[in-house]
Amino acid sequence: MYTQPNNQRDTKPVTIATLAKMKASGEKFSCLTAYDASYAALLDNAGVDVVLVGDSLGMVIQGHPTTLPVTMDDMIYHGRAVARGLKRALLMLDMPFMSYATPDMALMNAARMMQEAGAHMIKLEGNANQLKIVEHLAGNGVPVCAHLGLRPQSVHKIGGFKVQGREQDAARQMVKDATMLANAGADVLLLECVPSALGREITQAVGVPVIGIGAGPDTDAQVLVLYDLLDITPGRRPKFAKNYMQDASSPLEAVQNFIREVQTGVYPAREHCFD
Ligand code: KIV
Repeated sequence: MYTQPNNQRDTKPVTIATLAKMKASGEKFSCLTAYDASYAALLDNAGVDVVLVGDSLGMVIQGHPTTLPVTMDDMIYHGRAVARGLKRALLMLDMPFMSYATPDMALMNAARMMQEAGAHMIKLEGNANQLKIVEHLAGNGVPVCAHLGLRPQSVHKIGGFKVQGREQDAARQMVKDATMLANAGADVLLLECVPSALGREITQAVGVPVIGIGAGPDTDAQVLVLYDLLDITPGRRPKFAKNYMQDASSPLEAVQNFIREVQTGVYPAREHCFD
């Protein structure tokens, strides 16, 4: 049965100012996905700093082969449930495929996520083509995380879930895009599946915190899909993911170990990174 957690930890809420301060002081922060109130409460109790309702829910909850079928209503439904489980963590919600095709559409849907689901920040997959959208959102008071590198909503355009930025031109372009997105008002960047050296370069180039997933050890934070960490994602585990249940006797202990390993730089190890 689900009961409200008795959270004894410091419950001062995490804000974008907290994350900026952590980047400035070199303190790493942790991020995990959640899709329901029970896991959200567990992550919050464990001390995860940012909880992401990712559109990965299309794959791990709904069983689709990609994130493309996820709708705004799906995101609002899961976002509301997760929000009810949180006291301290910053709540970030993914904008689903085609929900931010124009600046006005993005603003209307971001407003729904904040007003109906309680999101503190929205995440969209972007490069230089999304600058106007990020500017419009930021200008209207919406905290934005821009997701670069492997952008799963573009899987059919890219031709698969592949490491990005390995070629020099692509790497140069990604550094430029990251800088422009931060200058356009993105408060946080998220980098997925890029070589570690590029992860380091982008993290050093921008003033905003950078969350990595398969982006090497030098980003300001690490994120994983919770079900990869708990080893319950069906099929092959991605190279960057680590099974934290191997050395834990409960999901709570597994999450606590992840947080500790992120803070101390033990995770990601060499075997979780791309060259
Ligand atoms: O949708 C998601 O869970 C994500 C993470 C993989 C970062 O975007």
